[in-house]
Amino acid sequence: MMQKGALNVQKIREDFPILKRKVSGGKQLVYLDNAATTQKPLAVIDSIHDYYMNYNSNIHRAVHQMAEEATLAFETTREKVAKFVNARSTEEIIFTRNATEALNLVAYSWGRSNVKKDDKVVITEIEHHSNIVPWQILTTEKGAKLEYIGVDDDGYLKMQEYKQHLDSNKVKLVSVTHMSNVLGTIVPVNDIIKMSHERGIPVLIDGAQSVPHMQVDVQKMDCDFMAFSAHKMLGPTGVGILYVKKEILEKMPPFMGGGDMIKEVHKYETRYNDLPYKFEGGTPNIADVIGFSAAIDYLNDIGMDRVREHEIELTKYAIDRITGVKGVTLYGPRNVNDRGGVVSFNIGDIHPHDLATIMNDHGIAIRSGHHCAQVLMERLDVSATSRASFYIYNTKEEIDKFIDALDEARRLFKI
Ligand code: ALA
Repeated sequence: MMQKGALNVQKIREDFPILKRKVSGGKQLVYLDNAATTQKPLAVIDSIHDYYMNYNSNIHRAVHQMAEEATLAFETTREKVAKFVNARSTEEIIFTRNATEALNLVAYSWGRSNVKKDDKVVITEIEHHSNIVPWQILTTEKGAKLEYIGVDDDGYLKMQEYKQHLDSNKVKLVSVTHMSNVLGTIVPVNDIIKMSHERGIPVLIDGAQSVPHMQVDVQKMDCDFMAFSAHKMLGPTGVGILYVKKEILEKMPPFMGGGDMIKEVHKYETRYNDLPYKFEGGTPNIADVIGFSAAIDYLNDIGMDRVREHEIELTKYAIDRITGVKGVTLYGPRNVNDRGGVVSFNIGDIHPHDLATIMNDHGIAIRSGHHCAQVLMERLDVSATSRASFYIYNTKEEIDKFIDALDEARRLFKI
């Protein structure tokens, strides 16, 4: 049953036993590293436990009862995932190890059959390494070109540059993040997709940071591919998801050969399995895919619009408070409607790792470093930033603690 109104965060927190943890010599944990991975509710932990305790079996192979139970639970997750992002059918949902593998699957399978010498693949300066390196490998191998859409000083993409790339008539694929894991920028994917499609160019969306935090509808968006990860949306690690439009998937060669992705194997030839199994060679991460089901149920019960509203409120509060701290440089759009719940910043000349260590002394978990986005770091002309990122169980009181710790660091470093 979907709930209504503001989130009952205190009630939600009771479902996450880890949030009661004390760290750094008895400090109450304040977990603000949700863009890296989110915590897991009991329902997810219990579901994995239940699988191993009661019906641990391989899937799609045996006819014994436990194998059928495991297969049903695994395929039920696929149905829930398809519904969650509004895919047309479960044939369009492929399970991978993570979003990185999902992006690589597209680069290796679709990319190798479609990108030729002198073609262009267009990405942006705000991409995660997972949406850069596979395209560097592909374009280098094919003698194709990798082109970037730049980002302006306010954290918005330079759409004019995008138009110029399209006008070159060489673009074979556009692959963009839906939400920056550093700036929080929500990319105007609908415009990007529409403009690409007018020229017959497919678009891949890296939804790793958006799908966990807002309602994402692949049919409305009309993207051709989308990658995301279970562990950033209350689910277990080791489960990535690749959505591909069926008509595209039907023409893609397999990515990894092995068991379960085949119908028949002979000495010199193989008939591949139906979609989506053709792209799922080997025993998958059964327990964690099953656990992911409980995560989707949890988010559905809350409702993704309410998740987004909660994060807008927290982000607005965090930005208001952090801009009051002397010496802070904040990155990304100021308008909270244009950004997700990640707040990246630097303060004076304190190295982000030092700041994160001070935060840790207060029990506060934030991320520091390049955030797997070194191209963006170069663009911002910094080697690293600190980043606080929020989710459904975070509170304004936790942001207050974070700001107090930040202020203390500032005083310590005499900023
Ligand atoms: N991509 C994850 C992050 O941004 C790991 O922290």
